[in-house]
Amino acid sequence: MKLYIGVDLGTSAVKLLLMDAQGEIKNVVSKEYPLEFPQPGWSQQNPEDWRRAVMEGIPELLSGFDGGEVAGIGCGGQMHGLVVLDKDDNVIRPAILWNDGRTAKQVDYLNNVIGKDRLSAWTANIAFAGFTAPKILWMRENEPENFAKIAKIMLPKDYVNYILTGAHACDYSDASGTLLLNVEYKCWSREMLDICGISESQMPKLFESYESIGTVKPEIAKSLGVPETTRVCAGAGDNAAAAIGTGVVGEGGCNISLGTSGTVFISSEKFGVDKNNALHAFAHADGGYHLMGCMLSAASCNKWLMEEIFKTTDYAAEQAPITEDKLGENHVYFLPYLMGERSPINDTCARGAFIGMTMDTTRADLTQAVLEGVAFAIRDSVEVARSLGIEIKSSRICGGGAKSPLWKQIMANVLNIELQCLESEQGPGMGGAMLAMVACGEYPNVQAACGRIVRVTSKVCPEPKLAAKYEKRYGQFKQIYPSCKQVFANFAKE
Ligand code: XUL
Repeated sequence: MKLYIGVDLGTSAVKLLLMDAQGEIKNVVSKEYPLEFPQPGWSQQNPEDWRRAVMEGIPELLSGFDGGEVAGIGCGGQMHGLVVLDKDDNVIRPAILWNDGRTAKQVDYLNNVIGKDRLSAWTANIAFAGFTAPKILWMRENEPENFAKIAKIMLPKDYVNYILTGAHACDYSDASGTLLLNVEYKCWSREMLDICGISESQMPKLFESYESIGTVKPEIAKSLGVPETTRVCAGAGDNAAAAIGTGVVGEGGCNISLGTSGTVFISSEKFGVDKNNALHAFAHADGGYHLMGCMLSAASCNKWLMEEIFKTTDYAAEQAPITEDKLGENHVYFLPYLMGERSPINDTCARGAFIGMTMDTTRADLTQAVLEGVAFAIRDSVEVARSLGIEIKSSRICGGGAKSPLWKQIMANVLNIELQCLESEQGPGMGGAMLAMVACGEYPNVQAACGRIVRVTSKVCPEPKLAAKYEKRYGQFKQIYPSCKQVFANFAKE
């Protein structure tokens, strides 16, 4: 039997998954690591923590199994993070993550001085604070001595792949989020490299996600307990990997991920750009393309309320009082902008807010408001897609938030679409393992792997009466951010 390892390099933990070629999950291991917020809106992580978590986690994952059967490893990783190595391969500074908002000035320069039209022509996207290029500009401006030391630039999962294989590689889906890739022609943009003051020799070699970048180094094979012939595929950004894991490939599929971030991912065979650049236009891990809306805090809003504010980890107990009759009736609203927001408002100054409380507001109303606020913000991205003429009648759903039946019911009714749930909500890890299978020749292409492995096990359908109630509530929700926008901007000037 051949085995495959899927690595989901997330923001709070790495989730490792062991799978056979028919898609049966044999084991799952999760290893947490810290996240630093050195200033409000900043977000960093130490790549060494990722390395340690993967190197310790894989032997644990394989315990009780025959490591000699491992044929391939594939990684889906948090996107956009800036990882920089010096000439001796030392990490120069902590990685600046996808939800970091320190680059407002650089984003403004790129979008307004270089200009959105040119950015969009070169990269199919405009600048957002979390993207990699503005972070390189930030480093050049604020840490010139660090900037001068850069020998290699890479994304988070590419660092893991580099540790495993020694290959400085990146796939097109993840490279799309750097704002340095010409997405349509799948090559680094000379114009953008020049603007950032870097050269192509510092950038990784580009691959399709399902291509092999090499085999594990002998010493790594030994400490992981896998054969030296184990192939590592280029892997993908976590959203593209999740789309593979949920079978969203080819034309017109949709996946919603309720992880630390919340994303709406629409797959396409042809390259296309949202003319307003509210949705990202990226390459997909199946060889095609996708449009994506990304909210920065989704399941993390619920985690924040549960763990930081209510001091509990029993999420189900907090959701239990939110019975059917309460849905669509909540007078409390929540703006989920705890780390600012990307899609579609693109505002690093935006902040979280509860609004509409009265003396009879309960703890459960606040919990419900958070679940609903995230659903409304996801709908904002779905509405952008609808305004482009994209019809979304159903979607796959994955991520930690998809474990909650209540949250899925709220999502289905707020979006008024059918949600299709899969055997496992581990999208990126599944996708990573499936990409490795293609790289090892187990399946001829990604579509064939999806056809064999991905199984929808249940559906959550909207109920017309409830969807109508939520339609009204969404109308109210939409008024809140525009009324607070200036207040948030004023707060940021302090
Ligand atoms: C996508 C994005 C997030 C991260 C989360 O653009 O920034 O979804 O990939 O890990």
